[in-house]
Order: sequence, then structure tokens, then C-alpha cells
Amino acid sequence: MGWGLVGVGRHAERFIVPAMGKSASGQLVGVFSRDMGRARQLAERLGCPLATDSIDALVEDARIHAVYVCSPNNVHKDQVVRAAKAGKHVLCEKPLATNARDSLTMVEACRQAGVKLGVGFHLRHNPVHMAAKESVRSGVLGTIQLAEVQYMHVTAGSEGRRQSVAWRRDPIMAGGGSFMSTGVHAIDLLRFVTGKEITQVLALADEEWRSSGIERLIQVSMVVEGDTLASASAGPMKHPLNHLVLYGASATLRCTGSIGNNGGGSIEIVSDDGTQIRRFDTCDVYEHELDAFADSVRNGTEPSASGYDALRVAQIAEGVYESLRTGRAVPLPADL
Ligand SMILES: NC(=O)c1ccc[n+]([C@@H]2O[C@H](COP(=O)([O-])OP(=O)(O)OC[C@H]3O[C@@H](n4cnc5c(N)ncnc54)[C@H](OP(=O)(O)O)[C@@H]3O)[C@@H](O)[C@H]2O)c1
Repeated sequence: MGWGLVGVGRHAERFIVPAMGKSASGQLVGVFSRDMGRARQLAERLGCPLATDSIDALVEDARIHAVYVCSPNNVHKDQVVRAAKAGKHVLCEKPLATNARDSLTMVEACRQAGVKLGVGFHLRHNPVHMAAKESVRSGVLGTIQLAEVQYMHVTAGSEGRRQSVAWRRDPIMAGGGSFMSTGVHAIDLLRFVTGKEITQVLALADEEWRSSGIERLIQVSMVVEGDTLASASAGPMKHPLNHLVLYGASATLRCTGSIGNNGGGSIEIVSDDGTQIRRFDTCDVYEHELDAFADSVRNGTEPSASGYDALRVAQIAEGVYESLRTGRAVPLPADL
């Protein structure tokens, strides 16, 4: 596949461009920047033939088959819809949009155009989480009673804070703070591994949310269908120790070292038979994500994290922010 890349900022430079270099999904053909000079510099540095400051020129170029959208959250919608209308498959960064209404518009645009819409929930592509999902499916854990997931990110030092982009502190552009940053990954991981829907949320955030609409620390308690209680937390920490723990009626499963930008980690399962530990080598989850997306295009299957998954996460996010505003638990619609 020929890839077009929209929004070559921190995430694209650190993870997506290197992953495209390794991935068997295809090659980078074109870059879009709002600044033509930057587009040319990027294309030269990244070795791709097309540089443009016109999103339409990018999505209409015949050499491009799929567009990777890696721009600020609130501009995803317009870019995804334009790519879909030009008949291009889209892999869009998370969150798909800043609200459920825009997410639905994007899902519908891709459905009507007959193109695939994948979403950058990269944790699904870590073999650790695939194995955890398989353990749940196999029944070895028994009924899951309690689930905990934590995706904290490393506190930015002074240099990081200086570089930190303004849109992340703008509630209109980002849609929220840490929940929109890593919290949505935690929620998607919970849905992915358990295969169950979240039916109710109750959220607490630090005081920064009240003053700016951008929370730093957030904790969400949830009910998952079938009566599982769950919790998710997100925010900056000096030394994150992220994990996913599933307490089942027969066994407890814990994933460690697997929730972050690198793949790999380990799974520990504690049961009456003792403790089993499986370790997984480090891998590039973004490369796996690109390969899996190309497979879904080739085979006509739904991407692992589809637009519908992202729409559901957007509905959950709306429930979370409603809960922060009202201080109440928010039931979620059963259907999309
Ligand atoms: N899955 C993950 O692990 C992960 C991790 C981090 C971020 N992300 C997601 O990736 C996306 C980008 O995050 P980032 O940290 O890379 O942001 P970033 O560093 O600000 O880069 C975004 C790029 O988008 C373009 N842009 C900025 N403002 C724009 C606007 N108003 N309209 C159109 N384009 C604009 C800029 O490129 P030009 O100036 O060249 O146009 C900028 O370089 C976000 O959706 C974020 O949530 C995902």
C-alpha cells in the first residue's frame, strides 16, 4: 500500500514513520503539512515523492491507497471524511474524535465510501494482550469479577513541558486531558481483553479539570456487562508501573511491562495450580498495527480496532466527562 501521512508531529516522528519503514504494509508515499516548506523538508528527509499543503491533493493522489491521520484530535474528523470521500482507507489516531457525534460521522463516511477505518489503539497489537484475551476466552480465569487497568505516562521534564503542544491543553482541540491521552487506551484494552461492554461509569479527576477542562489525574470506576467491576486510571507519573489485572473466579491474570509505547512484557497467572509466568520479547506494536491494518484491507475484514470500537470509546468518554460534571454514575447506551 502507498501511505499518505497527515500530521507529522511528535507521535508520527517517534513511532509511526519508523514503523512504516519496518512494516510490510507498504511505504510512505506522501506527507501533508499545513506549511509547504515543512512538507517539502519532511518529504526529502523521509524519502517520499509527494509533499503537499493540500489535504485534497494528498488524498486524491493515485499512488496513495491509505491515509494515516496523526493530527490533533479535533481535526481528525474533517481529514478522515475527506480521505474516505476520495476512496482511501484510513488509519486514524486515537481518540477518533473529541465526541461521539463526530466519531459517528467518520464511521458513516467510511462505511458509505466502502473503505476501512482503523483506529490507533496500539495496545491491541501487543502479543501480551492478545495472549491475555485468549486466556479469558479459554475460560481458564473463570468469570471475571474485578478488572484494573492503569496507563500512566511519564511526567514531562522541563524540556518536555516546553515542547508540549498547545492543542493538548485546549479542551476544544483535545476533548479532555489524560483520559483522552492514555485513558482511552486503557478503556479500549479492557474492552478488547474481556470482550465485554462497559455499561456504567463513575469518574473522579484532580482539581485541574474544574479550572481548565484538562484533567491531569483521572480514575474511572466501571460496571462491565455480566456484573464485573472495573477501574481505569490515567495521568502523568514520575515512574509509571502500568498493569492490567483480571481477577477471575478460578485464577488471577496480570500483564506487566506491556502498557506503553513498546510491545512485549509478561503475563502472570495465579491459580490453585500455582503461578505461571510467560515473558514476551520487546516488539514494535506500531509496526504490528500497520501490518494488521494492511491485512484487513487485503482480506476485506474489519480492522482489529475499528471505527465502531472507537465510537464506543467516544460514548464512554462522554459518560466519563458527564460523571465528572455531575458527580454521578452514568449509565451507557447498550447499543452504538
Ligand atoms: N497511539 C499512541 O500511542 C499515541 C501517542 C501519542 C499521540 N497520539 C495521537 O496522535 C495524534 C497527534 O499527536 P502528537 O503528539 O503527534 O501531536 P503533535 O506533535 O502536535 O503533531 C500533530 C501535527 O499535526 C499538525 N497540526 C497541528 N495543529 C493542527 C491543526 N490545527 N490543524 C491541522 N493540523 C495540525 C502539525 O503538523 P503541521 O504543522 O506540519 O501541519 C503537527 O505536527 C493525536 O491524536 C494523539 O492523541 C497517539
